[in-house]
Amino acid sequence: MLADILGNFDLRLRGFEDFRKFVGETPELKRCIVRCDLNIPSSIRDLSRVYAIKSTVEAILDLGLGVVLISHYKRPKPEDRSDQKFSLSIVRDSVSEVLGRKVQFVEGSVFEVDPSVIDSEVVLLENLRFYDGETQNDDNFARILASYGDVYVNEAFSVSHRAHASVCAITKYIPSFAGISLQNEVRWLSKLLQEVDRPYTAIIGGSKVSTKIDVLRRVSQIADNLVITGAMANTFLAARGFDMQSSVIEKELLADATEIMKLSKAKILLPLDFMVSADIETTGTTCKLGAIPQGNACFDIGNETVKFIQDVISQSKTLLWNGAIGAFEFANFRGGTDAIAQSVAELTKSGKIASIIGGGETVASLGCYKDDMSFVSTAGGAFLEFVAGFDLPGLLTLQAR
Ligand code: 3PG
Repeated sequence: MLADILGNFDLRLRGFEDFRKFVGETPELKRCIVRCDLNIPSSIRDLSRVYAIKSTVEAILDLGLGVVLISHYKRPKPEDRSDQKFSLSIVRDSVSEVLGRKVQFVEGSVFEVDPSVIDSEVVLLENLRFYDGETQNDDNFARILASYGDVYVNEAFSVSHRAHASVCAITKYIPSFAGISLQNEVRWLSKLLQEVDRPYTAIIGGSKVSTKIDVLRRVSQIADNLVITGAMANTFLAARGFDMQSSVIEKELLADATEIMKLSKAKILLPLDFMVSADIETTGTTCKLGAIPQGNACFDIGNETVKFIQDVISQSKTLLWNGAIGAFEFANFRGGTDAIAQSVAELTKSGKIASIIGGGETVASLGCYKDDMSFVSTAGGAFLEFVAGFDLPGLLTLQAR
């Protein structure tokens, strides 16, 4: 049924315009809690998730309210509370730099916040995942968080797939709205599930079929072309009977791969040639599918494959790209990624294609082409779940009634 395929496209959120109206009608409001995602990668300095909250935070301050930023950072346990590598103090300076204002960091327990500190213009509370109440979506924990503000804005699309207290339960205790970036994410990603301009091509890559099985199933039903790349292509090719030699294959998913290919409404396109090597540190050589030398593994797509992907996307109007095409972190194996990223950037700039990119690894692989894409999502897991058609708990709680 069409409705089953489209799933979450019909999301009407209590958005930022509703928030402005609410603030206008409620003069006694003093502070707004903003759930953001400051879980920024520690290896590369990618501040996209901090930039994502800037417009919303500025708009809230312009409305005369103070801002209390709440977030998680990585996946600590309560016993890690004194471990500085999990403290949100790590990102305080970056947040301050991006927002261009002082950010008052509240050290220590989120249960004992000094009332004089909470009154500062912009406050950042400590990592919420130091508390089980957060991940258990606990009502008492949510009530405590809610007590630090009068109104709540979710500006963390990338965490909206988690039924956690600061995303879900908190909305029971405080008027709640969607932030500007969150709404923008939903608007762009919904395009992929509804009035998409066709031909619609999806490039799905990355290392594991297991993490993308739902997206593959879904996209194979609604896209016109599904290009499967990255290490996960090995599993699909093995399911078609090719000997992939030492390439990584998820044997337990061969049957799923076969089923996806059998039921797909999209044309499935798999690599025809590769850059292979006996180990990832060594320079690769090109070889065709079916002729991979013994003991070698595929680490990138070859030129023939680059050309056919370029050909497919040049005839498309919409592109979804999630997942690395090759082992782009290694200079020897980033040729395929660079060539495709460059083509997508050129097609996007010339207005021939709408390119929607998601997933931290994919975004990192784009390098200098990132800014040329139509839309780059800040989300990883949430992006995949949304595109797979699942309802995200954090969005359901913001739905307009
Ligand atoms: C992310 O990085 O995708 C979000 O911050 C969610 O993180 P999590 O997967 O640890 O919930």
